[in-house]
Amino acid sequence: MSTKSKQLAGEKATEFIKDGMVLGLGTGSTVYWTIQKLGELVKGGLNIQGVPTSKQTEKLANQLDIPLLSLSDVNDIDLTIDGADEANSNLELIKGGGGALLREKMIASISRRLVIVVDQSKYVPELGHFPLPVEIVPFGWEITSKQIAALGCLPQLRREERDPVVTDNGNYIVDCHFNTISDAKQLDQALNMIPGVVENGLFVDMANELIIGRDDGTIDFLST
Ligand code: A5P
Repeated sequence: MSTKSKQLAGEKATEFIKDGMVLGLGTGSTVYWTIQKLGELVKGGLNIQGVPTSKQTEKLANQLDIPLLSLSDVNDIDLTIDGADEANSNLELIKGGGGALLREKMIASISRRLVIVVDQSKYVPELGHFPLPVEIVPFGWEITSKQIAALGCLPQLRREERDPVVTDNGNYIVDCHFNTISDAKQLDQALNMIPGVVENGLFVDMANELIIGRDDGTIDFLST
């Protein structure tokens, strides 16, 4: 995985942006390049409004003078551009490595088009090698973790030093080691049936386009 391939994919996605759009702005080190490029376009006169998927992205967009709206201000979003931790050929994704999965999924769910930008290392034949992030409420998190484990994984509470990582929404994250996920749709539904689970990082039937940046400077496109 190189910065160059992330930059290639991230910048390429700005070609989907049109004047007047409301844009969902994803989170992470690949979409970082999309947002940088978007900042240049806005400086050059492009008229868009962005809805950030995390405090981190909100800060970056503010630094670049990209006009922002909050999710409560919009009914729908024209286009969201975001990264992923894994993507397969059906455009099913694992997201949430950066901890922003809930806001990312809420914003993706009201987007007319979801474009995902990744470097080649994220494009995999089968999901699950990357531990699936699941956002859970802190209350009784050990019990929720056990209920998640019963679905066939090893859940690990995400910590920074010794303390649990707290999301932008005040919740915890468990990273769930499945090794392989053969039915992402079924797992997505089973996880979200557990009462202490807020949301999980599987994005199924959501992405419309996948842009893969490669180290040799080429770009691949997949669409649904
Ligand atoms: C943030 O929570 C994630 O969903 C990111 O979109 C994902 O982890 C990809 O991030 P990178 O582009 O930094 O790998």
